[in-house]
Amino acid sequence: MQIHINEDKQQFHLTNGHISYIFHVMKNGQLGHLYYGKALRHREDFSHLQVYDVPTAASCHIYAGDPAFSLETVRQEYPVYGNSDFREPAIVVERLGVSHIPQFTYESYRVLEGKPSLDGLPATYVDRAEDAVTLQIMLRDEFLGAQLTLQYTIFRDKPVITRNACILNEGTQPLVLDRMMGASLDLPDKDFMFVHLAGTWSRERYVKERKLETGIQSISSIRGASSHHHNPFMAMKRFDATEHTGEVYGFQHVYSSNFLMQVEVDHYDVARLSVGIHPFGFRWNLKNGETFQTPEVVMVYSSAGLNGMSQAFHNLYRDHLIPSQWRKVERPVLINNWEATYFNFDEDKLVNIASSASELGIELFVLDDGWFGKRNDDTSSLGDWFVDYAKLPNGLASLAEKIKSTGMKFGLWFEPEMISPNSELYREHPDWAVGLQGQPQTLGRNQLVLDFSRQEIVDYVYEKMAGIIRATGLAYIKWDMNRNITEAFSTKLASNEQGEFFHRYILGVYALYEKLTSEFPHVLFESCAGGGGRFDPGMLYYAPQAWTSDDTDAVERLKIQYGTSLAYPLYSMGSHVSAVPNHQTLRSTPLQTRANTAYFGTFGYELDPLSLSDEEREAIKIQVEFYKQYRELIRDGDFYRLRSPFEGNETAWMVVSRDKTEALVGWYKVLATPNGAKQQAIRLIGLDESMVYEVVSSGGHYYGDELMTVGLQLPTEFNGVNAQVAKRGGDFQSEVFYLKNIANKKI
Ligand code: GLA
Repeated sequence: MQIHINEDKQQFHLTNGHISYIFHVMKNGQLGHLYYGKALRHREDFSHLQVYDVPTAASCHIYAGDPAFSLETVRQEYPVYGNSDFREPAIVVERLGVSHIPQFTYESYRVLEGKPSLDGLPATYVDRAEDAVTLQIMLRDEFLGAQLTLQYTIFRDKPVITRNACILNEGTQPLVLDRMMGASLDLPDKDFMFVHLAGTWSRERYVKERKLETGIQSISSIRGASSHHHNPFMAMKRFDATEHTGEVYGFQHVYSSNFLMQVEVDHYDVARLSVGIHPFGFRWNLKNGETFQTPEVVMVYSSAGLNGMSQAFHNLYRDHLIPSQWRKVERPVLINNWEATYFNFDEDKLVNIASSASELGIELFVLDDGWFGKRNDDTSSLGDWFVDYAKLPNGLASLAEKIKSTGMKFGLWFEPEMISPNSELYREHPDWAVGLQGQPQTLGRNQLVLDFSRQEIVDYVYEKMAGIIRATGLAYIKWDMNRNITEAFSTKLASNEQGEFFHRYILGVYALYEKLTSEFPHVLFESCAGGGGRFDPGMLYYAPQAWTSDDTDAVERLKIQYGTSLAYPLYSMGSHVSAVPNHQTLRSTPLQTRANTAYFGTFGYELDPLSLSDEEREAIKIQVEFYKQYRELIRDGDFYRLRSPFEGNETAWMVVSRDKTEALVGWYKVLATPNGAKQQAIRLIGLDESMVYEVVSSGGHYYGDELMTVGLQLPTEFNGVNAQVAKRGGDFQSEVFYLKNIANKKI
């Protein structure tokens, strides 16, 4: 892993044997992009990678009299608008009232072992300096009196570069930023499929693919959250790339609020990628001496298809993003009372659920919404973070003790960022809600949003939450956020500062997370936003798991979890078994299929154990035991997607241990096939060709190469006349196979 610097030619080459990222200082002093992709051997000079050509006459905008140099035709690192580049820029900055086209020209560089943290923002990190190296490039616009630092980090043994940008106002006049992206990247052509994840509440992160075309295409959020609708993830997949082969570039924004991921394909087919805070509505005042730091952009290169890209994200997030104290810890199997009781519970009911769940081997009881204020439905009490004595007359600490005496840990739901108009907090502080007094405020789920851009409000919520954590010895917090932000104004910001609101808001959210997670590192946080409305890398930095979706239907979860796995590791996805008919779809699927789907995540239950039959209880005991046995494999293993729920009736995926001695394969078939194919097998991936594996459920022994070429045979499906031999049938079938290497065995 190293950074080659050619001082003479002013070229920079970041490489680690997997990838290369190369750029240089162009003749006008701005940064030109040369190459990003599979590792190249280092050579003295890469300047031939910058092709200078005269732009066509009609748009002939030539720099400084050199007919072969135009910003219109060169690929750049961090472009500006205003001279000869007519594409969208990375930065728009002005000195108020003064006409000037920004020109950030190269000043110096700095190489740092390791990776500096980003002030107030989540970002990937390294524990040991030798795991990454960082290059900072300092550029300057003399007229503005501004220094721009572009930061590039390359990780050891990972096909990953992270980028961010930071501007410092060193001048005497205030500056205003209208746009500042974390990264801009000019890929040389447009021969890619644009892959991204889109959806809405209850069907988050469906995989979408479309061909890049001339013009601008983008995904984004301007909702004040990364959103259910578009995830801050996009991939550029070569036309010949598949799930497991070929070139794919993946991008993620480590941020939980408004974002833009845009590709502008120009008239020469150059694809300009921009990733950063959405410029729409963004306007940041930068006073003298102040800096503005962009969120981080993660860039992954894969030569092993989409799945290779996913594994690179998974490895990065497991090793360098989630809080280190959770990296190697088994997460508890939990039971959440939401779908069991909704708002209708009392202490006895909760303790009974906990003790009944404890007998099933479940380890953590989570009390969801409805324990505070006077919250008997969703029309009141958000912000009133004190126990509802009408429901829990002995208080929370006593409930916590009783839960713990059943052998369970105790966890609690909060929605820290919200305020109900019908709450004591609102009656006392109506101006704490986002929006302007006297102007309409739109309700979402009957609630308003607390103005987290204000320090005193964040401090207030911190005191409430910290007090409850201390009093109850909480082991877990589900941090929810059930509406997007409208009328995005703060009463404390002047009218010319309101463009700072969204970013200041999320900085407040991060500050609260930072304070709570550093003071209470043993508390496991699960982020949530009406299900998966804020499932993003920014949140993972604080909360190592996220509630993937409110939709717990096993069939729907195949798509949701499959899509989520494009960017996020299995162990970050909260996935629970719930009752049937399912509360979101009214579909009834077998209990085993619900568990077989939920195993591939952080496992739990979302049902009333007191209403289970004896048979169901026995089945659940086995499920919990099964998950406990394999959760380490699920946490640390390599994940392979085998069949896509977006392409057919079947889904399959598997996770293989790093040493390839064991694997867990999940296979799911939504509708039965009448008299279908006689021989049905799934071809596995990622095993060791020469190892002998036992398929534990059948006792069969096979070499890895056979399992990967012939495949793993599926049990015979019922076809109307084969009742004697059929091992499966009906709709919503599934199987999870455990494969284990039998050492020194020859077959
Ligand atoms: C959101 C969450 C649910 C549940 C409810 C409680 O919808 O996603 O899991 O916590 O809020 O109101």
